[in-house]
Amino acid sequence: MAYTFSNSFVLAFTTLSFLLVSTSVSTTTTTTRSMSNNIEGLSYNFYSNTCPNAEIIIKNVVSQKLKEALVTAAGALRIFFHDCFVEGCDASVLIASSSTNKAERDADINLSLPGDGYDVFFRAKRALELQCPGVVSCADVMAIVTRDLVNLMGGPRWEVLKGRRDGLISKASRVEGNLPQVNQTMSQLISLFKYKGLSTLDMVALSGAHTLGFSHCKEFISRIYGYNTTCDIDPTMNKGFALQLRATCPIKSMDPNVVAFNDVTSPFTFDNAYYLNLQKGFGLLATDQQLFLHPETRSYVNDMVEDQQIFFSYFVAAMIKLSQIGVKTGSDGEIRHDCGTFNA
Ligand code: HEM
Repeated sequence: MAYTFSNSFVLAFTTLSFLLVSTSVSTTTTTTRSMSNNIEGLSYNFYSNTCPNAEIIIKNVVSQKLKEALVTAAGALRIFFHDCFVEGCDASVLIASSSTNKAERDADINLSLPGDGYDVFFRAKRALELQCPGVVSCADVMAIVTRDLVNLMGGPRWEVLKGRRDGLISKASRVEGNLPQVNQTMSQLISLFKYKGLSTLDMVALSGAHTLGFSHCKEFISRIYGYNTTCDIDPTMNKGFALQLRATCPIKSMDPNVVAFNDVTSPFTFDNAYYLNLQKGFGLLATDQQLFLHPETRSYVNDMVEDQQIFFSYFVAAMIKLSQIGVKTGSDGEIRHDCGTFNA
């Protein structure tokens, strides 16, 4: 695995909230079913004859993995997003590189995707292979695992349409330009999401995924040192927050493994605190903070702060759209036996 997780979590303002929330993984019982079922070949009961217990088997693996490593949720959610934006939701990100192919997961931007995130997908698939070999695709495993993790971290639950097949292409060279980066402008991000079939509102709602997880210092360092010729610190960032981050990421001896929470107030709970942070200048990444500053996205941020249920319903709608991007169905692709390698 190309990534080693650092023990030096940044607790910035949050030592207490970390202690409180990390021990209480809550579940939300609300279940949402998409109104639209418009992708031919996908259905809610796809495995009801061939692997009727598929979702129960997956849920058990996910719960166990989360008990072992709470950071799994954020890692897997990000991996799922990166999978869907490159070649569609076809588990192409899970393929390991070979001597003849540098795979998607080894593209620079994917090197920070964490091992625990990959592990939960592989484990769920292995458990399914014992009960129903060759039936459930890795792409469907990814969609279901991600849904369960969001829910177990306190977020909403939704029904997952199934029937995706696994892709036959995974190339690092096809990643560039398909994933958002922190130095992009809001218009560039809006265009990228639009190109993937997602609206500006979908983008703002999906960014709420940053209610979980971490970012490495290099992703926000330019905001806290030598920002521009007149300001040393990005003026859109809360000054106290910036100084805390400086303590974590000293410029002279920056440890490449050190990370800071994306949501400084409740990093292990899937909630709408991320948006409230943006209103206060506690956005960690420049692109997070921009959501509150840009005229096309600001009112959406305010809506999400207003009511957590509104955030959840927009998030679910956007996740359902995300999980249908470029899916392969019918005789397209394959059902991999091992998520890390194409079938022979
Ligand atoms: C809108 C544009 C986005 C940008 C520029 C962006 C960028 C980033 C960056 C730079 C990191 C830190 C990576 C690291 O240092 O390890 C990160 C983390 C993360 N991102 Fe995003 N992201 C965006 C949207 C999304 C979306 C749409 C999702 C999911 C639906 C998502 C889920 C996550 C999660 C869960 C993490 C934490 C990962 C972990 O703790 O392992 N992001 N993102």
